[in-house]
Amino acid sequence: MSIHDDIDHVIITEEQIAERVREMGEQLKADYVDSTKPVLLVAVLRGAAIFVADLARAIGGKVELDFMAVSSYGSTTKSSGVVRILKDLDEDIEGRDVVVVEDILDTGLTLKYLLRNLASRKPRSLEVVTLLSKEGKQQVPIDCKYIGFAVPDEFVVGYGLDYAERYRNLPYIGVLKREIYAD
Ligand code: IMP
Ligand code: MG
Repeated sequence: MSIHDDIDHVIITEEQIAERVREMGEQLKADYVDSTKPVLLVAVLRGAAIFVADLARAIGGKVELDFMAVSSYGSTTKSSGVVRILKDLDEDIEGRDVVVVEDILDTGLTLKYLLRNLASRKPRSLEVVTLLSKEGKQQVPIDCKYIGFAVPDEFVVGYGLDYAERYRNLPYIGVLKREIYAD
């Protein structure tokens, strides 16, 4: 039994992801070329781990990496709106150019909380890059400068995104078969 057997259909292929990540890396490289210190990519664990690994290598300029873990979902598919910091940054971001790296922008509740929290630490600049953005789902407006793909309002998995901690290792983004949720 392979994880691929649980997928109903693929919505973004491995090749499409690679191409878009390459473009986003080039854009970030150009945008931060004049930074005094390397741009600090703050990946939101665990979903953005795979995306940031590829994005950082696509930038090809100086970057630093740090990680935060927040909880908003548990293992269900509905947003709770409750955000807790489970792991904070190791770096002090005061005066730094910070780019938050997210897997998916859904209701925006997680990012809203995170951005307010990070802004209070006085970074020089603060932007957001998200691989995916769910169309029509944002409950709070988020100023997200870099968006990989807009996706329909369906629960998606793969390339870092999970269902109950599974399927993060799929190389593409897909939708699970309906019966998987029923388990
Ligand atoms: P938000 O606070 O509703 O924007 O939710 C953001 C977080 O919920 C993301 O970082 C994901 O971890 C998770 N999430 C939202 N939609 C999906 C999805 O379709 N598949 C997997 N995880 C999702
Ligand atoms: Mg998740």
